[in-house]
Amino acid sequence: MSAPFQIFTARVLPANLQFDVEGDLTLLEAADLGRVQLPSSCRNGTCRTCMCQLVSGEVTYTVEWPGLSAEEKAEGLVLPCVARPLTDVVLMQAAATAG
Ligand code: FES
Repeated sequence: MSAPFQIFTARVLPANLQFDVEGDLTLLEAADLGRVQLPSSCRNGTCRTCMCQLVSGEVTYTVEWPGLSAEEKAEGLVLPCVARPLTDVVLMQAAATAG
């Protein structure tokens, strides 16, 4: 028995914007549907424009090797355009952490 359709909640800091992620949408697709604007460009995991810090929760990737190094992944950086949540997630926009 498996749940056919899961909905997770994603929150984006520091603006504290929240949106739902339904089915197998990526975080970026769900943000678009939820009218939450996240920076993006390539939408295929290579340009890193959308990069965020995963503050809490877990994600899986739709591509085998998203454009992150093993160290960056270990630090909790994620690419929302190719990441699907496995739990509720909290993201910190990378631009906000850089400064
Ligand atoms: S939009 Fe290019 S890596 Fe996410």
